[in-house]
Amino acid sequence: MENKKFPKMAFVLLSFLYLIPFSGAVVPNAIGIGYGRLGDNLPSPARSIELLQSMNVGRVKLYDADHEILNLLSGKNIDVAITVANDEISGIAANQHLADQWVYEHVLAHYPKTRIRFVLVGHEVFSSLSTDQDMQIARDLVPAIRRIKNTLKAQGIRNIKVGTPLAMDMMEMTFPPSNGSFKPEIREFMVPLLKYINGTKSYFFVDVYPYFAWFEGQVMNQTGISLDFALLRSGNETYTDPQTGLVYTNLLDQMLDSVVYAMAKLGYDDVMLAVSETGWPHEGESGATRENAAEYNNNLIRKMVTVPNAGTPARPGEVIPTYIFSLYDEDQKYGPATERHWGLLNPDGSPVYQVNITRKGTSD
Ligand SMILES: *[C@@H]1O[C@H](CO)[C@@H](O)[C@H](O)[C@H]1NC(C)=O
Ligand SMILES: *[C@@H]1O[C@H](CO)[C@@H](O)[C@H](O)[C@H]1NC(C)=O
Ligand SMILES: *[C@@H]1O[C@H](CO)[C@@H](O)[C@H](O)[C@H]1NC(C)=O
Ligand SMILES: *[C@@H]1O[C@H](CO)[C@@H](O)[C@H](O)[C@H]1NC(C)=O
Ligand SMILES: *[C@@H]1O[C@H](CO)[C@@H](O)[C@H](O)[C@H]1NC(C)=O
Repeated sequence: MENKKFPKMAFVLLSFLYLIPFSGAVVPNAIGIGYGRLGDNLPSPARSIELLQSMNVGRVKLYDADHEILNLLSGKNIDVAITVANDEISGIAANQHLADQWVYEHVLAHYPKTRIRFVLVGHEVFSSLSTDQDMQIARDLVPAIRRIKNTLKAQGIRNIKVGTPLAMDMMEMTFPPSNGSFKPEIREFMVPLLKYINGTKSYFFVDVYPYFAWFEGQVMNQTGISLDFALLRSGNETYTDPQTGLVYTNLLDQMLDSVVYAMAKLGYDDVMLAVSETGWPHEGESGATRENAAEYNNNLIRKMVTVPNAGTPARPGEVIPTYIFSLYDEDQKYGPATERHWGLLNPDGSPVYQVNITRKGTSD
């Protein structure tokens, strides 16, 4: 999440509608948390895993594939996503032996006792394409994903999906959702990626932050996006996409569906979505308050664990694995203060605000 560049959001036109009734039921918890560690004051890995367990987190996303943490997650009831660093991608793409080695060290050494379910190759690789090396990594992304997947297949491992998390700055257009499209300069990378993800029935992982879209709207005086809409407050605000007639009740759905339509434009109609990061900062710039962060994350959880699955207007009923960013405030991140205040927990492990990961999909 280092470099947030967001496409301009056009005015969101609001209209009235009704509340959608939900039927009550219980669903296995699909909410995860991103465990970023760019802090010099964070609890130990052992304490962190205890905290994740005490929060009843069903999934954790690691920004590396650290042996100590993977060992600590052994035998725990937590699905794990691990990450291949950007600077490992080109080597792995060029050499099956390096891919094998990575998988032996970081997967086979821990799996299946540690429930590794996703290998994420790189982090927001298409977000920085300014150097020759960046371009090379972008070109090497799919070959690296393929080699990792090949190693897993050769080992008979079929329940680990391989993908790559991308940021919303991949989008040329996000509004209206049906006009969603990828930036032309990344289409050459996107087409082979979608082909591979579709062919392996993996997820298209997106880091999606309504906060930044809302914030940018405020800064640019495009006040059409209301805080209610960005915070997923279920209320009277809706937007109807003029092309599809689909009715949106929150900004997150709009952003996700813009990705759905961008994929469809390239011929991929049913690639599954996962939210590899989302969240709301509790301190920093405008809109970053504990109250807003608590409301966003609790509304997000409620939406994602509702039964029947809410999905999005373009993908009703779809299960969308979702990770909240982040477990802790990370004091070593650069940028505005907001960047260092995404945590659910304080450095001593106490909650920054109340968030109910365990909330089941009831009709509240
Ligand atoms: C959506 O895209 C079409 C075709 O590019 C364009 O004509 C239309 O103006 C766009 N709609 C909006 C609301 O931007
Ligand atoms: C996506 O995968 C499905 C099989 O799961 C296949 O039928 C379809 O043709 C693929 N789409 C594209 C555009 O290749
Ligand atoms: C936003 O609008 C207000 C008043 O309408 C104006 O004073 C301010 O300079 C504008 N800010 C930007 C960044 O354009
Ligand atoms: C939504 O309802 C609230 C309170 O009932 C009201 O203040 C607000 O203006 C309404 N918003 C819209 C967009 O209708
Ligand atoms: C979380 O759950 C507890 C117990 O069910 C409840 O008292 C509390 O209000 C909930 N908090 C939020 C923010 O929903």
